Amino acid sequence: MAQNVMITGTGRSYALGYNMVLRYLECGDKVIATVRKESEALLKLKETYGERLYIVTMDIGSTESVCAAAKEVEQRFDCIDLLINNAVTVSPDCDKDFFDANLDYIAHTVDVTAVGPLRVIKAFYPLLAKSKETALVMNISSEAGSIGRCYRTNLIDYGMAKAALNMGTMNLVNVFKNDDNINLFCVHPGWIRTDGRPDNKAPLSAYDAAEILRKLFEEKREDRTGPRFITNEGKEYPF
Ligand SMILES: NC(=O)c1ccc[n+]([C@@H]2O[C@H](COP(=O)([O-])OP(=O)(O)OC[C@H]3O[C@@H](n4cnc5c(N)ncnc54)[C@H](OP(=O)(O)O)[C@@H]3O)[C@@H](O)[C@H]2O)c1
Repeated sequence: MAQNVMITGTGRSYALGYNMVLRYLECGDKVIATVRKESEALLKLKETYGERLYIVTMDIGSTESVCAAAKEVEQRFDCIDLLINNAVTVSPDCDKDFFDANLDYIAHTVDVTAVGPLRVIKAFYPLLAKSKETALVMNISSEAGSIGRCYRTNLIDYGMAKAALNMGTMNLVNVFKNDDNINLFCVHPGWIRTDGRPDNKAPLSAYDAAEILRKLFEEKREDRTGPRFITNEGKEYPF
């Protein structure tokens, strides 16, 4: 059955968010695609898919912006069946090691990447609650957010933000423990070519990764007892 899917951070044609938008549209769903600024690539998709694609501007670093977007979407959609929190930011010092990185950048990365998805879930909860099936929330995390498997000396802001997103997800799993209408996971989506660079050595194209995740998400919708931090194969990843 066709569903209403909302995906954040969707403006870049080579990245994961846009390719998930494309796959869900190809499969017949309605998609709410959020962006920070106008995206030529999405406007082109709209020429093909018309009313089934709704583009909304939303900065997940701002509660005001997220609440305004929720109000806008509420006027056009009865419910959201699947929310994919995909948007992410990193600091300019992301690749630097501890002694070279400006630590004052970290808070912003955490605010957008970890708090942002929680802002979105809170503001869009009324629409999720109206889903006729189990509303699914998929927070796109990363193996880089695993504390147990941490091996890096760089990506400090990104790793901290994804670990915080995982914690936020688990807190919400507790919040919604007795609510049969909503189910949540954090997912490492695999190593994906999402930067548009031809020399990127990641094994998955953004389009193929989007299809792997689309199938996984449907398998997981009613899974309430399995692990909450999972890989793109649905296997448990250590927090
Ligand atoms: N690529 C990989 O191998 C890999 C591995 C593990 C996990 N992941 C995760 O997979 C997801 C997608 O990765 P990606 O590489 O495709 O991401 P990306 O290319 O960096 O795209 C992220 C999107 O988030 C948006 N964004 C940034 N700040 C925002 C804000 N304040 N409010 C709203 N949107 C904002 C960006 O918008 P603008 O276009 O306006 O900047 C962009 O469209 C991310 O969560 C990432 O951490 C990726």
